[in-house]
Order: sequence, then C-alpha cells, then structure tokens
Amino acid sequence: MAVVKTVADRKDNLDKILVKGGNPLVGKVTVSGAKNAVLPIIAASILAGSPVQIDDVPNLTDVDTICQVIASLGVAVARDGNTVKVDPAGLDTFEAPHELVSKMRASVVVMGALLARMGKARISHPGGCAIGSRPINWHLKGLEALGAQIRINHGYLEATAASLKGARIYLDFPSVGATENIMMAASMAKGTTIIENSAQEPEIVDLANFINEMGGKVRGAGTNVIRIEGVSHLNGAVHSIIPDRIEAGSYLVAAALTGGDVTVENVIIDHLKPVLAKLRESGVEVIEADTSLRVIRRSELKGIDFKTQVHPGFPTDLQAPMMALTTMARGTSIITETVFENRFMHVEELKRMGANIRIEGRTAIVDGVARLTGAQVKATDLRAGAALLAAALSAEGVTEIENTYHIDRGYENIVEKLQGLGAQISRA
Ligand code: UD1
Repeated sequence: MAVVKTVADRKDNLDKILVKGGNPLVGKVTVSGAKNAVLPIIAASILAGSPVQIDDVPNLTDVDTICQVIASLGVAVARDGNTVKVDPAGLDTFEAPHELVSKMRASVVVMGALLARMGKARISHPGGCAIGSRPINWHLKGLEALGAQIRINHGYLEATAASLKGARIYLDFPSVGATENIMMAASMAKGTTIIENSAQEPEIVDLANFINEMGGKVRGAGTNVIRIEGVSHLNGAVHSIIPDRIEAGSYLVAAALTGGDVTVENVIIDHLKPVLAKLRESGVEVIEADTSLRVIRRSELKGIDFKTQVHPGFPTDLQAPMMALTTMARGTSIITETVFENRFMHVEELKRMGANIRIEGRTAIVDGVARLTGAQVKATDLRAGAALLAAALSAEGVTEIENTYHIDRGYENIVEKLQGLGAQISRA
C-alpha cells in the first residue's frame, strides 16, 4: 500500500491565492475532519495489533506528513478519499527522520506510541517554529515518569524503556501534545497512569475514544484528570474523526467579516462556545441548529476584548482570524495571547491591508478602521493565513497571499469551499 499525497498532487506547485474582496459570503459550507484530532490518531494507530480504518480524514499536507512518518516506520498506509487505512503489522523501525519532523513538529506525537510498541523511539528534535520556541519538555518529563530514558544525540531524541510503568504525572501546563504522547505510551504501560492538569481539548477526547475503541482503558478525557489503565494488547478499530472546530470558526469569522449569511454544517456546537460568545458580542447573529451554525451580520461590528486560553477558553488557533474581524469593528479591541509567546506574526500583514494595530507584549490593541484594502501579503503560519483570507475577502480590491502552503496544512479545499460561498478567489 502506498501513501497517496492528495494535496501535494492537486496543488501543482501553485503557492499564491488571489482574492478580489467585497462580496458578502453567502450559502452553506461543510466542515472537514479535525486536523488536530487526526494527526495524533494516525500516530496512535501504530499501537494496534491489527488493521485500523480512520474515516472523515481531511486531505491536508499535515496528514500527508503524518502518514509518511508512520510509513517510514514500516507501517502500511493507504488513503482513499477521506479514509485512511493503517496496517501496523510491518512496524519494524523506531526512527522518525529529520526531513519529516522538520516539516511538521506535531510528528513528535509518534514518540509515545513508538515507545509503547517498540520500547524505543528516535525522533529528530523538533526545535522552534514561527509562533515560538515550543519546547517539548513536558512530553519528555511525562515519558520519563513512565520509565523511559531519554537523551539528545546529534539532534535526535533517543528514548528507550525496557518496560513502561504507569505513574502519576502532574503537567505544569495542560499541554495538548504532552497529554497525547503520555496517553499513547500509558495505554500499553503496566498499571495505571493518572495525568493531572491534563489538556481538555476536544481532540484529546477523540484520541481517548479511539484508544478505547482499540480496547484501551482511558477515562476522564475532556476533564483535567485522565486515568489510563495500561493493557498488553490493542486491536484494530474503525473510527471517524470529529469535525474541525477551528476550520468551522474560521468560516464563521469570514462570513461575519464580509457581512454575509453563511450556514456552517458538520459542527459540534459545544466545541465552539467561546467563539460564538465573542461573535455575538461583536454584533453578529448566530443561529444554532443540531449540527450546524448560521451566521448573519446585519449591522456594524463592535470591538471585543478576548484572551486566548486552553479549552474551554478562547482557542489560540482562532486568535488571528478573530483579530481580522476586529480590524473593521467600531472602537478598540484588546486581544491577549496567553498560550504561545510569539503568535502575532499576522499583525504586520494585516497592517499592510490598512488595519490599525499595535502590540504591547502579549497584547494587541486594535482600533477599528472603516475599510481594509487589498495588498500583497504573506501567510506566516497556518492560522495567520486564515486571518489574511478573511481580511482579503472583505477588503476593497485584490489581495495576493503568498506562502499559502501554510494554509493547505490545515484547511481542506479552502479555495473551492470559499468559491462555493460566492468568493472571488483563485490559486495563482
Ligand atoms: C496543539 C495544536 C495547536 C494549538 C495548541 C494549543 C496540534 C497538532 N496542534 O499544539 O494547533 O495551537 O495545541 O491549543 O494539535 N509547551 C512547553 N513545553 C512542552 C509543551 C508545550 O513549554 O513540553 C508550551 C508551548 O510552547 C506553548 C504551550 O505550551 O506555548 C501550549 O502548547 P501545547 O498545548 O503543547 O500545543 P501543541 O500540542 O504544540
């Protein structure tokens, strides 16, 4: 079985997006499976003793990368549309190479699963990235508590454990990736692991559900204490990925910013509460149905203040798109980033489009302007790219967004989906 690189194949090396702004978005758009759920779940599939099927997998370059990571371990991976089939029988390598980890730092989530299955993991050290130094000390501390010995050798993290043993682990901060890595390793450790101050994000719950579908014993996911009883063997399973709350939020924001009327389908409303609260506060009407949300903007936008926090607080991944919304809102908005140290890269680009923003430490102060104008801008990271798209769709004239490979890491068919809402948008 071969890994099908669907996104890379489709992209034809086009790395710019052109947007002619000014049209309100109108219509319906369907949200894809969650990127941040599927990446750890594909990594966790190597824990299984027999084949795994994962449905509702979005076609994203990050998904290509995690598939390549597990394929490089000897695991058979096949992609067909939105389904990924993994047969872990051939797992015979414990090394995740530099060229893949450097493409996507989330590859490091394969470490816990590799330790559990092989007793060894050798992973290129992920280093920093555009939004901060992003250390992985809490991942390593957790794996060490389970009995792993870890050293850094020639830029690689080398972990070994003759056997993993359950432990009580307190996380200094509820890190998503650390919680995932520990959950995977602990699911096949001897005895019980308790993760205190664990991350509570919906993607953690999806991973726990997947491990349990394979026969694991994970309880408490979605709260700040997760209890994992290790088992000696996990089976294959069939699992569907939850909808992407960040993709949903990005469309809601873009619809609101353009003064549109958009129904976003395939959402879990509970996952979006803080985002809906802020949209309503900014004067946007949000109508909730079972699995869809309709956003209508009939009046001027009002400035809002918000602070990013771990779930169930306002998600850092929607800070940039929501900031784009405030650039054209009446009055001043105060936005504080508490999760990442350097997540304001989009500010300079939004300013090129006429936004009035100043940064003081971890806070951005946005004074609303009457209009944005099209410009040449760069997507500096994934969510910065989504913010620029929302801004471009509402700006006067044409915006050319460069480095759109960042956007393809996390938004399935974004150009086609926006075209479906009436946007004048194309790749170039
Ligand atoms: C995940 C998400 C990312 C999201 C983030 C926070 C994936 C693939 N990515 O990233 O989209 O923005 O959660 O919701 O799921 N930290 C340390 N030491 C560690 C681990 C983290 O200092 O060992 C710091 C990070 O630098 C960051 C903060 O903790 O400042 C949060 O990181 P974490 O929750 O681990 O985020 P990721 O899992 O990297």
